[in-house]
Amino acid sequence: MRFQKLMLWTLTASIGLTAKPLLAEEDGAYLYKVYCAICHEATDSEARAPGQAVLRQMTPEHILQVLESGVMKTQAAERSRVQRRILAEYLSEKKFGSVPPDIIPRSAFCGNGVAAPRNTSTTAEWNGWGVTITNTRFQAASAAGLSAADVPRLRLKWAFGFPGATTGGTQPVVVGGRLYVGNAEGDVFALDAKTGCIHWNFQADAGVRSAMVIGKTGDGKPVAYFGDQSANMYGVDAQNGKLLWKTKIDQNSRAAITAAAALDGSRLYVPVSSREESQVDDLKYPCCTFRGSMVAMDASNGRVLWKTYTIEGEADQVGKNSIGTQFSGPSGAAIWNTPTIDLKRRLLYSGTGNNYSVPATNTSDAVVAFDMDSGKIRWVNQVTANDIWNRSCGRPNIRNSFTCPDADAPDVDFASSPILANLKDGRQIIVAANKSAIYGLDPDRDGRILWQAQVGKNRNGGVMWGAALDGETLFAANQSFDAKSPDASGGIGAFDIASGKTIWSISPPPCENRNSCRPSHAAAVTAIPGVLFAGTWDGRLQALSTRDGKILWEYDTSKEFQTVNGVKANGGSMSNAGATVVGGMVFTNSGYSHHGGITPGNLLLAFSLE
Ligand code: HEC
Repeated sequence: MRFQKLMLWTLTASIGLTAKPLLAEEDGAYLYKVYCAICHEATDSEARAPGQAVLRQMTPEHILQVLESGVMKTQAAERSRVQRRILAEYLSEKKFGSVPPDIIPRSAFCGNGVAAPRNTSTTAEWNGWGVTITNTRFQAASAAGLSAADVPRLRLKWAFGFPGATTGGTQPVVVGGRLYVGNAEGDVFALDAKTGCIHWNFQADAGVRSAMVIGKTGDGKPVAYFGDQSANMYGVDAQNGKLLWKTKIDQNSRAAITAAAALDGSRLYVPVSSREESQVDDLKYPCCTFRGSMVAMDASNGRVLWKTYTIEGEADQVGKNSIGTQFSGPSGAAIWNTPTIDLKRRLLYSGTGNNYSVPATNTSDAVVAFDMDSGKIRWVNQVTANDIWNRSCGRPNIRNSFTCPDADAPDVDFASSPILANLKDGRQIIVAANKSAIYGLDPDRDGRILWQAQVGKNRNGGVMWGAALDGETLFAANQSFDAKSPDASGGIGAFDIASGKTIWSISPPPCENRNSCRPSHAAAVTAIPGVLFAGTWDGRLQALSTRDGKILWEYDTSKEFQTVNGVKANGGSMSNAGATVVGGMVFTNSGYSHHGGITPGNLLLAFSLE
């Protein structure tokens, strides 16, 4: 391994030499080795920085944007403009301008030849992240318009390319025959669900990772609500894409809205997370002051009604590191998931993330119940204590006692939404899954744990973005991947939520002869009666029988597609958003370059029986 790497450096250096002698500071390979490789070539799995094989699949334009205004802004801040360009060309192995810019042709818009807008009298819909206000991710038969017997006949209907993107879009939302989707480049689209033609597009100030939720104004006009990675919340006229209001709901410079808002009547409930934990591997970053929060907003005008932090009181200074950077705490306990609405008890449930810096709080890695009306915290059930984690934890030479007192901190956030469910005996239960386990909690006893379960063989896996619930059966996929034994990674299980007992479980699909294989499932799963849809890290969309986990249909999205909007696009890793099933069609994103994604991509795919 080491020998191979050396060969690569020598080879690259000699290519540079044949052209003209390069100064080290103008040589991409040298710059990468000195300033980037420490994270990007790290072998420990905690680092999560994409390796060169992943970066090679990006365009130089994208890498430059990442270095100048994206997630690597801090890491590249001290490189010159010229050096950033050199790095972008070196890592993408492409010249600037060699990939034609993705300009969407006029013909991609509805009514311009491609396809006329349809009569949208259909009532079937998938609204928000989890379809229901309790985030079941279960679509009933009438709205799904698809049965287990139909699934093997699914065919690709259309493909849509996100211009300039390396990661697919948000959970597709379909309301009134229109599909709403945003992406990490900040583009939001309203498409015709049947044909993929564009009704309108909107440019947000920052990347969009939160699914849209569609509501109505007082006079009945549809409005799309969503948040961006700079913590702005938007209300946009869903008929024409015009901005109605925009409100920044958190002043921390790294604050972000990652999960979709929940909507009840004229109120939006918006969870706030942050990118601060990813900055901590920079010795100069004064970690950390961000505190997670839940925000209630008036959907008609974007006014904040209440905001409740998951950590009481602002962070205090806790000490300095070896180069004198001041650290603060407590921090973290971000909310990465859409709250679940409990109308009977007037409560919202969300899971929180880990702390970022000392001291630990009792609200991290917890399920928290907020009063819907006042925002007061009614109860907290912390399932994992002392989980102070950030990107420095896997880096012995950067880690310090303020930001990562325990290098083995488990990083077991609640990334997925809790689900509130009814049991046959009349009781209710909250099912919440974090990155290590699934918990059954009692809503009548302040969230006390009733049972605990795990998916598959791998003990450290747990659920990443979301499980699905059909009646009393929960379906959950394990996101973990162990390169040494792919077969023991991931897997999917069905659980009886009354007892927590496993009904069936299956191993991940075999690697067979795939080049880049990562068969575990990080994307949220979606259920309809009889069928469970799940996407793998290496781009396979699977439909499994909910009875026994048998594969009914599989489609490999990890390839290039001809798109209806004329943008060059390929599929890849599937993570975060899962499939959306509405009116006999299945929609999915493909391509993901974050959190361990191995294949970037920029696709939205639509399947139907026609
Ligand atoms: C301190 C660790 C660290 C250093 C140093 C670092 N990176 Fe990164 N980089 C990361 C991590 C972690 C991610 C993944 C971020 C994510 O998924 O949100 C990443 C992601 C990226 C991405 C992909 C972003 C995308 O859109 O998916 C690019 C491109 C990148 N880094 C380039 C660089 C370059 C060039 C350098 C050197 C100037 C560099 N990085 C230095 C940790 C680092």
